[in-house]
Amino acid sequence: MKDGLILVGAPGSGKGTQGQLLVEHLGYQKMSTGDLLRKEIKSGSKLGLRVQDIVASGNLVSDDIVAELIENEIVRLGDTRLYFDGYPRNLAQAKKLGEILSQKNPVKAVINFEVPSEVLVKRAVGRRVCGQCERIYHLQFNPPKNGNFCDFCDVELTHRSDDKEEKVRHRLVVYETETKPILTHYHELGLLKTLDASADKDQVFTKVREIIEL
Ligand code: AP5
Repeated sequence: MKDGLILVGAPGSGKGTQGQLLVEHLGYQKMSTGDLLRKEIKSGSKLGLRVQDIVASGNLVSDDIVAELIENEIVRLGDTRLYFDGYPRNLAQAKKLGEILSQKNPVKAVINFEVPSEVLVKRAVGRRVCGQCERIYHLQFNPPKNGNFCDFCDVELTHRSDDKEEKVRHRLVVYETETKPILTHYHELGLLKTLDASADKDQVFTKVREIIEL
């Protein structure tokens, strides 16, 4: 791994959207534990069956399961520019990631996306996703051109089971209590860069680029 980035932010803050731009414009590879878990669920694997109710409820799956997923993925992706989306999610995971990467692969920055909570709910509830290419749309802010179909794959878009309003509100509580403490950890390590992510996606990406190019 090189130029490693960690994207942190509440559900709907735009981590996936900005990650997509990192892939398209700066040659990054994605490491999203949410996507890896959803792939396991979709495939009906043993692991998928174990985690599907937890993911649908908006609670976190166990640290051991996600640690195994990311260790395998880091090895698979090799010496590439890599960003982490949705990992780490609590202090134990942050410390585990520090051990996995060690001093050989330091993280360049931890980017914290801040968005007011009512905007987060609106963003997550209106999100639609392509199950084939994983592109992210929003019915209002980034609508597909052709009804409910992906602009690129022509596949019908899906609405995530955890994107119903009451689930989103629960995920926001989980974020506040379990994930937010990692911000202090990364601030103490001198890695934390916080940005206002309530602007449109291109304006937010300009700020992300500025951080990377520092
Ligand atoms: P995960 O998949 O990681 O979801 P999340 O962190 O809740 O984040 P989201 O994917 O909801 O939001 P996002 O910030 O990527 O927003 P997006 O760019 O799509 O996790 C899901 C579940 O998996 C967890 O609840 C847990 O159960 C489990 N899990 C995952 N990782 C785990 C871990 N490490 N440990 C334990 N459990 C784990 O944007 C949202 C919408 O807004 C989109 O429609 C988009 O088009 C729109 N939008 C984005 N940016 C803008 C903008 N600037 N202006 C207007 N609209 C915008």
